[in-house]
Amino acid sequence: MKHLLKLLDLSTEEIIDILNLADQLKYEQKHGIPHNILKGMTLGMIFQKASTRTRVSFETGMYQLGGNALFLSSKELQIGRGEPVQDTARVLSRYLNGIMIRTYEQSEVENLAEYGSIPIINGLTDFCHPCQVLADLQTIREYKNKLDGLNFCYIGDGNNMANSLTVGCLKVGMNVTLACPEGYYPDKKVLDFTSDYDNFKIVNSPVEAAADADVLYTDVWASMGMEDEVEKRKIAFKGYQINDSVMASAKPDAIVMHCLPAHREEEITSKVFEQHAKEIFDEAENRLHAQKAVMVRLMANEG
Ligand code: CP
Ligand code: NVA
Repeated sequence: MKHLLKLLDLSTEEIIDILNLADQLKYEQKHGIPHNILKGMTLGMIFQKASTRTRVSFETGMYQLGGNALFLSSKELQIGRGEPVQDTARVLSRYLNGIMIRTYEQSEVENLAEYGSIPIINGLTDFCHPCQVLADLQTIREYKNKLDGLNFCYIGDGNNMANSLTVGCLKVGMNVTLACPEGYYPDKKVLDFTSDYDNFKIVNSPVEAAADADVLYTDVWASMGMEDEVEKRKIAFKGYQINDSVMASAKPDAIVMHCLPAHREEEITSKVFEQHAKEIFDEAENRLHAQKAVMVRLMANEG
């Protein structure tokens, strides 16, 4: 594995290897065992969109591994004034040992990887959010002690989260059901990928999708960059919510997940959110551990 651009590029073995290493790094951190695996290395973190979890977990993770992290707001980089990503990639490759980027177009991340000579990590694009889903899989395995054969249900927009969850969950053997309104299905590349899987389906009813689910997941109705569509989406997504009726359809011990930030009373009720806050914040914590594993796998030999 040279980069983490999207989960479509990873094999099942590579995903499981990252999860195993994430568990190990989490154990070591909890037991105060220090590691200096990335000593002397620097990760550049380019943000074209807002972030709480991704920024803080990457920055902290890099320090915990003995390295440094630089927060690079696109507003303050020349990239924000039109310097091509191809040139930015070649310049930053001379200073840094890895780049994490959060942006709009997936092609920008792929271009960085093509022109740069250091590992590139996708910290969210309009197309996908692979780091989040690695942390999600780590969390699901912690709660259910397995991944293979679990019933996974996602309710809401066929967005970056739906794209990455569909690919990640299918690759580790889960049965995936999405409930999305017509016109808001996942990306065509993801739907093409699912054509090899008979344990994937999209339905329109959230209650139907949740039937017998082990894991329920939702995300905002309007993602970053869709600010103009907020009102239109409030209408289109009405009812695409994790609430008591959806919970009643799932298994009694189903866990509830959300990548955060959450919009209470839109995609999830406050009641369900608070009942499942433990899972949701364990999931947020695992961003740190899963990303440390990604950085170790990508950057440990880059020194
Ligand atoms: N889930 C997630 O990526 O959160 P941030 O937008 O706060 O980074
Ligand atoms: N779909 C959301 C995820 C945020 C982590 C967005 O792109 O804004």
